[in-house]
Formats: sequence, C-alpha cells, structure tokens
Amino acid sequence: MDSALSPRLVSQTRQVERLVAGQATSDGAGVRLTRVLTQELQRRLDPFLMLDAFGSDNPDDYIAGFPDHPHRGFETVTYMIAGRMRHRDSAGHEGLLENGGVQWMTAGRGVIHSEIPQQEQGVMEGFQLWLNLPGRDKLQPPWYRDFKAGELPRFTTPDGVAVTVIAGESHGVAGAVTRDATAPLYLDLQLPAGARFEQPLPAGHNAFVYVYRGELGIGGRAVPVQRMAVLANEAQADGVVIEAGAAGARALLIAGRPLKEPIAQYGPFVMNTQQEIYQALSDFRDGRLA
Ligand code: FE2
Repeated sequence: MDSALSPRLVSQTRQVERLVAGQATSDGAGVRLTRVLTQELQRRLDPFLMLDAFGSDNPDDYIAGFPDHPHRGFETVTYMIAGRMRHRDSAGHEGLLENGGVQWMTAGRGVIHSEIPQQEQGVMEGFQLWLNLPGRDKLQPPWYRDFKAGELPRFTTPDGVAVTVIAGESHGVAGAVTRDATAPLYLDLQLPAGARFEQPLPAGHNAFVYVYRGELGIGGRAVPVQRMAVLANEAQADGVVIEAGAAGARALLIAGRPLKEPIAQYGPFVMNTQQEIYQALSDFRDGRLA
C-alpha cells in the first residue's frame, strides 16, 4: 500500500493511555462473551457503558441466546460480524440481524426484548455496545432500527481501508445513526497490511479502539488482537492515526461526547440516581416498564 495516498486529516495523533483485555463472562441464558468495556471504565469512557465481544464456532457458547429481559435508560447497538439472531421486543419491533448488520435500539423508558440465535451451528461473532442517554431522554419512547449490511454507509480510502460508518461521520460520509447529545462515532475498519487511517476527533470526546483481527499501531504503540486501546484525551491531539501491522487488521473505532452525569446502574437499567433505579425495578415488577 502507498500510504502517501491517504488524506492527512490529523496533525497529531492521540496516544494509547492503556490497553484493556476485558473479562470473560457469560450473560443471557449462558452466552459466552468477553466484556471489553466493564463497569469500572464507565466514567473514563462516558458516554459508553459497556462493550461485549462474542465470537465462537461452538454452538454451546451461544445457542441459548438472550431470552426476554428488560432495559431502561440507554441505547444498545448490536453489530453482527457473522451469524443470525432474531430480535423481538415489547414495543412490537422484530428483526433478523445477520452478517454485517446492525441493530440500534433505544430502550428509553423501557423495553422487554429477546435476542435468539437462528442457527444451530457455525460461527456467531459480533459486538454489543451500550450508549448512555442524557437524563432528560432516559424516559423517551423506545426506538428501534435494523440496518442490513448493504444499508450501512461504507467507503474505501485511497490506502484501501474499508470503513463502515455505523454512527457519526467519517471522511465526509454520514453514518447510519446520529445522536445530538452524545455525538457517537462508531466505525468498523478493515485495514490492509501497512495501511494508515486518520480520523479527526474532538479533544473532549472519549475514544477507544478495539482490535478483533490482526494488529495495529497507534502513536508507535502496538495494539494486539482482542485488546481495547483507550485513547488519551490530549488537548493538542486533533484525532487518531491508526497503522495496520504486517497482516492487516480489523478494528472498531468508537468515540463520543461525555455526558458528565451521575451513573446509577442495576443490571439492565442505567439511570442517574438510585431512586430512579428503584422506580425502574418496581415498574418492571408491576408490568409498567414496557
Ligand atoms: Fe438486551
């Protein structure tokens, strides 16, 4: 690749503040996954509350799926790299999420939904990101959209980097979803060997990169596969420059404007205060959540 072809959009890259391996866990009815963005990183990576990575070719790891469960107060973004999963929720939405598709669900005041695999063998691989809502929007009506792979905005840089713009804006290409309060940027990057990718980022926005194939470098620091690089918020840095290793790489680049509000979480409910959590629990118990 001739990296000289790539546009120069960033004069100084952010540095890697730390690398995070995540924690192996299981959720739903026993789906094995890696919680990359854990609760202890919620303040540091505000407005993001969670990132789970799942990937297995063993049906025992995923077949049970996620039977009916509630959410309130935030948004869930599921990105399926490989596999098929059916979504149904109490707001009447239903959709099939498959290879390369994204499901964006704003739980708002509450939904009860299920996510059930539609395959008995083969690979199931993808990510679920939780994006917080500002306090004023936490009780908004639920919203839902499915995007098939072909419906997601995509472009390829002169360097040969294939970019899927799930949210936000990159190189003049608007993403599938935009949000005013948190201004989320969510890119899936496929970098050929040695390719370079630049993305401007507002200094105050929190940002991270998760590598799920190959290896890449940021500011001279190697980021290996299955690691999240938390990017430092340096005032003088105007974005991030990502350079793929010799085998190329696939990675998520995620950034957003912090809400700087109190976070009160109890499982699938994320509010601002404990009182609001008690309210969510009693609404759920009494059938008023959805
Ligand atoms: Fe869920």
